[in-house]
Amino acid sequence: MTDDRQASFSLRYASGDMPWDSGITPPEIVELLADLPAGWALDLGCGAGTVMRHLLRRGWRADGLDFVQRAIDMADAKLREFSPESYRLFRHDVTRLDDLPLLRSDYNLIIDIGCGHSLDPADVGRYADSIASRLNAGGLFMLYASHPRPDSTVGWAPRQVAQTLGRQLDLLWEQRGDDLSIGAPASWYKLRKPA
Ligand SMILES: C[S@@+](CC[C@H](N)C(=O)[O-])C[C@H]1O[C@@H](n2cnc3c(N)ncnc32)[C@H](O)[C@@H]1O
Repeated sequence: MTDDRQASFSLRYASGDMPWDSGITPPEIVELLADLPAGWALDLGCGAGTVMRHLLRRGWRADGLDFVQRAIDMADAKLREFSPESYRLFRHDVTRLDDLPLLRSDYNLIIDIGCGHSLDPADVGRYADSIASRLNAGGLFMLYASHPRPDSTVGWAPRQVAQTLGRQLDLLWEQRGDDLSIGAPASWYKLRKPA
């Protein structure tokens, strides 16, 4: 299943069909980082690296994962101005974090903007477990996910997020809005691993 999804995302990068790649860091992330001391972050489905660049500019160190090589290459090109010690990029599946021993288990912040909501439902439990196990106690998980819609397999209902990720993380807030790029409702979620 993941192979089909990977092929589909690869095609979209190859044809330049990436409406998510605005080059702008979402204000929810900008505001969060303004008040948070720098640490280690993990960007799941990092795409072309816009959020990683913002993290590095704010003094964070960051790991980014994406299963599309073109995305990793674009992110690498964007991050070359930073010291090689400050970031790492991996072409890897976010549902297989345990297969990547180089990843840390004490991230202060994990971010998923538009990646998890397209996973095979069979992989979501493992994905949620690995996020909880990779976060430091007190660490934050920022998630952006569209809501389910009839014409798409992509989307997580807020109730699903509470049931899966909320099992091990505290849901601090959810903010609903309309995602104009897909013409559907979507939510930001801020979750925290209990200290
Ligand atoms: C909608 S895009 C968002 C990219 C980036 N987060 C942004 O906001 O610009 C989703 C990204 O997640 C990646 N992705 C989706 N499923 C993945 C998986 N199972 N493992 C790794 N990357 C995945 C896609 O290749 C794509 O780059």
